[in-house]
Amino acid sequence: MLIDVVIPAAGIGKRMGATIPKQYLMLDDATIIEHTINKFTTLPFVNNIVVVLDKDDAFFSKLKFNIKKIVIAQGGKERADSVLNGLAITTTEFVLVHDAARPLVNKEDIIKLVQEASTDDGGILAVKVADTLKEGGANREIVATRPRDNLYRALTPQYFKRQLLINAYQEANKKGLILTDDASAMELSGFSPKLVLGSSLNIKITEPDDLILARMIIKAQGLN
Ligand code: CTP
Ligand code: MG
Repeated sequence: MLIDVVIPAAGIGKRMGATIPKQYLMLDDATIIEHTINKFTTLPFVNNIVVVLDKDDAFFSKLKFNIKKIVIAQGGKERADSVLNGLAITTTEFVLVHDAARPLVNKEDIIKLVQEASTDDGGILAVKVADTLKEGGANREIVATRPRDNLYRALTPQYFKRQLLINAYQEANKKGLILTDDASAMELSGFSPKLVLGSSLNIKITEPDDLILARMIIKAQGLN
């Protein structure tokens, strides 16, 4: 079975606060987005890689990829809009959606997700919450402690049947909802995506400290 991959990469990286979008910052010997894309290029079941870029993106075209499978889609206002634009030019029954900002995903986890979630419900990579969770009040005082036993952090890739995910996003759009991951759309449509446990090293590069962590992880893994 061949699978298209949608990589939303049209964000500006506001929380990173760099002068360029965070996906173009260097991580060891390559940009973040190159690391991310290269995690998928060598997987045998990957068909096209649809990279979703801002319409004024001035960086991607300067990068070099020695593969032919990359297709470009135009980004939208929110992540969900970008993903939907990317999905429009996918053609396979199932699709993987993976944030450009997660360059450290490992291939074994992607394979596990596909093996365990090729159903109508689909699935996502996730990690169990380890910290005790506090709910804060208006003055940042603790108002409650939340049980964490059944709580997970949603990572990407997220993996769904293409048409079901498109339908789910279109329904969410009609309701005017802004969703921060793909599973949320499926949940709203009544599906119960599977939580597939992945590595907690698959961090999303969001703030400057995450870059430090990512560089340390790459060094420790001896990948480069
Ligand atoms: N993304 C996108 N289109 C948008 C917003 C985000 O394709 N309109 C992408 C980002 O490029 C990123 C992924 O969605 O790869 C996850 O979003 P996030 O980590 O929030 O990135 P940014 O939106 O760029 O960061 P920030 O929220 O700090 O501005
Ligand atoms: Mg964002």
